[in-house]
Amino acid sequence: MPNAHTISGLATRHLLSIADLHRPDIDSLLALGETYLDLSVQKDARNDILAGKTLINLFFENSTRTEKSFELAARRLGADVINMSMSTSSAAKGETLLDTATTLNAMNPDLLVIRHGASGAPALLSQKVSCAVINAGDGAHEHPTQALLDALTLRTRLGAIDGLRIAICGDILHSRVARSNVQLLNILGAEVRLIGPPTLIPQDADQWGVEVFHDMKSGLKACDVVMMLRLQLERMGGAFVPSKREYFHFYGLDQKKLDYAAPGALVMHPGPMNRGVEISSDIADDPDISLITAQVEAGVAMRMAILHALSLGGVNG
Ligand code: NCD
Repeated sequence: MPNAHTISGLATRHLLSIADLHRPDIDSLLALGETYLDLSVQKDARNDILAGKTLINLFFENSTRTEKSFELAARRLGADVINMSMSTSSAAKGETLLDTATTLNAMNPDLLVIRHGASGAPALLSQKVSCAVINAGDGAHEHPTQALLDALTLRTRLGAIDGLRIAICGDILHSRVARSNVQLLNILGAEVRLIGPPTLIPQDADQWGVEVFHDMKSGLKACDVVMMLRLQLERMGGAFVPSKREYFHFYGLDQKKLDYAAPGALVMHPGPMNRGVEISSDIADDPDISLITAQVEAGVAMRMAILHALSLGGVNG
């Protein structure tokens, strides 16, 4: 059972971006995540490291897996959890984010997990509250815990990430998952490629340390891992793709396109999936190919590790 004596605190007090983490922090978080994942398989992951502590889940956008994953992780560590779904709370009555922060701060939480539609909202909140803040997705900016759980999934399945060729495909423009993953995978030594139509690739992507492709055939060549992204229609004001059918034809992952990748290539998706739009069901549901369920499993373990490490306090404040 991991305890406070076997791991040290992180250099950061909050987890707002992958850039908050130094390589030693990343390595110790992934190692701790691996321990929690092993324990969860043995059904022995529960401990009381966060007993007496309170975690508030503050979600301004809908979430199924992320919110529940944080809740389960915190409960398994013995914390009290409050879930605040902000569409039904004071925010809907016009309270500002900073008023909400002041109110929550008065409740003295130890950990605040926030998802918000605006990039930078978690960073703003972290300046106004006295507890650790975790970014569970802000606009199209970052989703650092998703990138960490994806790295844990890959490490568990493939051993090392260093040297892997990984393609992130689809709606990169609106994807906070892609932005966090590109940073983390680059730090961990993977060769990262982005594949998508020109309308869904950010203009500055060539400065992200990746290679950009606009067609699946050349982009997937010799890739070990194919990470598919949801077409984020709710973030699209105008027409970014001609139709879902045409999108699937060019960019949807089916067996034929997966054959362009390396033999035995594995497939990931952060969920929720649009089946038949960015991925076909036969790929998504094939346990030999798809890591999608493993990602959800790794999510709880990784978040236990993150909560555990952050609860020890940031070394550099
Ligand atoms: C992602 C998100 O919310 O950014 N989902 C998730 O956290 N599992 C990706 C998405 O919504 O498509």
